[in-house]
Amino acid sequence: MTKKILVAYATNAGSTAEVAEAVGKTLSANSTEVDVKVLDNLGDISAYDGYIFAAPMIIGWHKGMREYLAANQNALADKPVAYLITLLNMLKAEEESFDGVPVFQDPTHVKVPADPAKLNPAEQHGSLQHLIGDMLKEVPAIKPVSVGLFGGTLDMSKLNLFGKLFIRFIIRHPEGDFRNWDAINEWAGSLPAMME
Ligand SMILES: Cc1cc2nc3c(=O)[nH]c(=O)nc-3n(C[C@H](O)[C@H](O)[C@H](O)COP(=O)(O)O)c2cc1C
Repeated sequence: MTKKILVAYATNAGSTAEVAEAVGKTLSANSTEVDVKVLDNLGDISAYDGYIFAAPMIIGWHKGMREYLAANQNALADKPVAYLITLLNMLKAEEESFDGVPVFQDPTHVKVPADPAKLNPAEQHGSLQHLIGDMLKEVPAIKPVSVGLFGGTLDMSKLNLFGKLFIRFIIRHPEGDFRNWDAINEWAGSLPAMME
């Protein structure tokens, strides 16, 4: 049976929309039927066989995405769901899972902390506990088949004053496009088998 998968995304500055489209293309190339839709415009999504929810870290995982999943978690509880997170700061985790949930980290965008016993604020924002622990707790009915974590983009000219200050003083990351399309496509290609 050809699966029908929904890729639903939220974005702050636009780059996660392109990541969601790339995931959709990889899945279509593997003969999966895919719709890629922005979160604000989803309507009834009950007809799909699997779901990928993609959004950036914006302090925590994108607030609109967390609220959507919290509100719809019971309807999604029995369906295969994957989460895709774009971000700037990510520490290399020792395990490929968190709380029993399989985790895929973009291998080119992980950092090893200078002193693991004393993380600075930027490093604290890159721990799996911060990146996915809180969000998994907020949406307990969904146990994702995988969480993919990928480098995003940073263009300070697209941010409001609060965003600029948060990046400058907490995230402390240089500008650029850190999306690793090979890693994104590798992860996307592995999803249909996990969603069987
Ligand atoms: C206000 C703000 C807060 C952010 N918080 C985090 C964060 O906590 N951790 C992180 O790694 N990246 C953080 N980022 C970086 C974004 O996740 C990154 O730029 C992402 O690629 C944005 O995706 P978008 O273009 O789809 O909005 C933040 C960016 C902004 C503007």
